[in-house]
Amino acid sequence: MPAFGNEFERETLPYTDAVKEKTDHLYPKVASFIPKFEWRLHAPYIAAINDLKKQKNAVILAHNYMTPEIFHCVGDFAGDSLQLAKEAARSDAEIIVQAGVHFMAETSKILCPEKTVLIPDLRAGCSLASSITGADVRLLKQKYPGVPVVTYVNTTADVKAETDICCTSSNAVEVVEHAAKEFGTDTVILIPDQYLARNVAAMTDIKIVTWAGACEVHERFTAEDIRELREGNPGVIVLAHPECPPDVLAEADFAGSTSGMSNYVKEKQPNNVVLITECSMSDNVALENPKVNFVRPCNLCPHMKRISLPKILRSLQTMEHEVLIDPEIIEKARRPIERMIALPLKRQSMYNHLHAPEVAAVEARI
Ligand code: 13P
Ligand code: SF4
Repeated sequence: MPAFGNEFERETLPYTDAVKEKTDHLYPKVASFIPKFEWRLHAPYIAAINDLKKQKNAVILAHNYMTPEIFHCVGDFAGDSLQLAKEAARSDAEIIVQAGVHFMAETSKILCPEKTVLIPDLRAGCSLASSITGADVRLLKQKYPGVPVVTYVNTTADVKAETDICCTSSNAVEVVEHAAKEFGTDTVILIPDQYLARNVAAMTDIKIVTWAGACEVHERFTAEDIRELREGNPGVIVLAHPECPPDVLAEADFAGSTSGMSNYVKEKQPNNVVLITECSMSDNVALENPKVNFVRPCNLCPHMKRISLPKILRSLQTMEHEVLIDPEIIEKARRPIERMIALPLKRQSMYNHLHAPEVAAVEARI
């Protein structure tokens, strides 16, 4: 059993002939990124994880920010938050291992309460999810009676339980417009990401009340960073995640969810591109688009990076850490997620700056 007392401690499993046979067909997927000597460290874990998945009828849902050896070699389904939630809902596996962060594992559990949902490291959190509680949402609802609450999926089950409908970065504009129409209001509460809220506000006439939460990865990018990148890389196409501040999006050519950015590269095959988001995104997308050159400034998400092959293996071996949620909360939190999933998504999210991205109010710990 590998030792996991220390984050960087890893018992090296041996690279045997049997491992080689089980993993050789996977190496070409990552060969341009992972050198052979490093592959020999990953391959035994990949072989063991893929064997155990079959034995235990388990699937691994891998977010776009997972490192390439996870994303391309053990992930059964890969994608953005919305795609992973949809996969969880339709999966017939008995066990779901979430290669992502805790709120994603909770979303899977809420959608599949009868399944065992595992998160390989309980500390894989999210600055947005930890910025707001269910009690905060109840206070917001008292302050804005009758105003629908749209909650970003990057939140805990308790917060979702207080929500009318969830959204992700790939459908936020549509969900906000849908909620306003359903409730007959001109104002919507969109929490907890103040930047996503401002970016959505730039795309709709609906007034938005938000929360002072932020993604610790995306809020670090600045408009100046983008201008410098363009100066240093003439003609580069800039794609940004909508969790970035509005002035960053104003400098970008396109903004969309992690999968929105990935699809843009696949479809348009730009000569030179930069993804203003978490580091592993470019690595994964570059492997699938060998003709595209990637400029790679990025910020690491420390939470996503807690998930590793040894921890995934250990999770499957020991069935730790199982995500458990109070059944009453599951019941309440499922409705807003299912409402979101039921909405037809008409456009791949594309934000721009049609008008000043102001929001009606920003609340925090009211
Ligand atoms: P996506 O829904 O775009 O995958 O975003 C999730 C996330 O955590 C981005 O920081
Ligand atoms: Fe949360 Fe940001 Fe990490 Fe995504 S990148 S999980 S929003 S902290």
